[in-house]
Amino acid sequence: MFRSSLLQETTRAIFVHDPLWGDSGKGKVTDYLAQDERIGGVFRYQGGNNAGHTIRVDGTTWKLHLIPSGILNPDLPCILGNGVVIDPVRMNAEIDGLLEAGLPMTNLLISDRAHIVMPYHIQMDNVEEEGRDAAAAIGTTRRGIGPCYADKAARLGVRLVDALDKDHLRSRVENALHSKQALLANYPEALDVDAVTDNVYEQVQRLLPYIGEAIYPLWDVLDSGKILLGEGAQGTLLDLDQGTYPFVTSSNCLPATGCSGAGLAPQDMTDVVGVVKAYPTRIDTVGAFPTRMAASDPEIDDLLIERGGEFGTTTGRRRRCGWQDAVALRHACRISGINSIALTKLDIMYDIPLKIATAYTLADGTVTDRYPTDPNVLAGAQPVYQVLEGFTGDISGIRSYDDLPQGAKDYVEAVEAAVGIPVRLIGVGMSRDQMIER
Ligand code: IMP
Repeated sequence: MFRSSLLQETTRAIFVHDPLWGDSGKGKVTDYLAQDERIGGVFRYQGGNNAGHTIRVDGTTWKLHLIPSGILNPDLPCILGNGVVIDPVRMNAEIDGLLEAGLPMTNLLISDRAHIVMPYHIQMDNVEEEGRDAAAAIGTTRRGIGPCYADKAARLGVRLVDALDKDHLRSRVENALHSKQALLANYPEALDVDAVTDNVYEQVQRLLPYIGEAIYPLWDVLDSGKILLGEGAQGTLLDLDQGTYPFVTSSNCLPATGCSGAGLAPQDMTDVVGVVKAYPTRIDTVGAFPTRMAASDPEIDDLLIERGGEFGTTTGRRRRCGWQDAVALRHACRISGINSIALTKLDIMYDIPLKIATAYTLADGTVTDRYPTDPNVLAGAQPVYQVLEGFTGDISGIRSYDDLPQGAKDYVEAVEAAVGIPVRLIGVGMSRDQMIER
């Protein structure tokens, strides 16, 4: 039976979290840890189908958007908490795809408190994004996430539980659409209360077998002495409060919010594994990213995009690569409560020098190891790099830390020293088994 050294005697709930801008391989790490016999359930607590996870198991590639990666283990309860937002059309499509691929899906449970991404939210996301000039465009995934969370906060949202009764759903839709008349004036179909109600009601009816009270099943796992595994979406620097605002997503993504997003108490969250890609990426071109390679090392940027397949799982957009940023990581790991790091995609970094930003020189000449809040200050920050020689050759077949080339070990240890958190897992390929424990 598999037991990961990341799970301790004291672990109650372990969260898999990205301290930077997402796309680091959280799905793979969640799937890996879900194999541990002590795990009793997997859950997601925020975001929606703006996220995307690619996992390869036994030669099959799985692309997931809303459903936690734990679904690949049919014996584990797999729960979408109240903090997640559900587009029922996409959810049904994702379930259908997984059923067709042979997964039983009997372990899926969606919180009846989760808010619904309504068709007009997607329309609003498009209209709002198109209305922004190039400098202000956020580059959203256009999945309606921002407008859905905005309605939730404005108390205009529709939860799954509200969509079980059609008359109640209709009154919620009517109420919500009232305030959207001006924005959606050119989209009469988006404002048609009955059409929207019929569409959403029908989609939610299809989801009925999966909808229910989702807090007690999580507590049951803890009470049985098993460990909960929480799968984050996006990352700390995309967090609504702690990220590079306004180029952020519309939910709070920190593990701390995972408690309210699923129904746990903060003390339940004993461990957080920070999933850090060997080279950070960011999908939008506008948000702050001081170590972005585009200007300094464009050929390496292109090389890593190609080797690492760095195109969004959800949008297909090309990601931008950067050098490792210990300033951002120290800051983000601390607020995220990260106590171990999984360094992913190290196998991609062969035959290039490896750089780690240990400080920034700001436009006024100050050298700082603290992450600035002001986007203009961040835009002018020049990274101070520690440069390592790197390694050559294919490391994807290596399974023991000692067998890694010295240059790869030097990089792992330099990241660890610069961030101040132990690197306990190292990803050397897409497949579940291409992982080194340390
Ligand atoms: P939204 O979440 O669709 O509103 O997009 C807001 C910002 O977050 C955009 O820059 C998106 O590209 C980014 N974003 C949202 N979800 C993800 C993700 O799962 N990975 C990486 N970036 C994301």
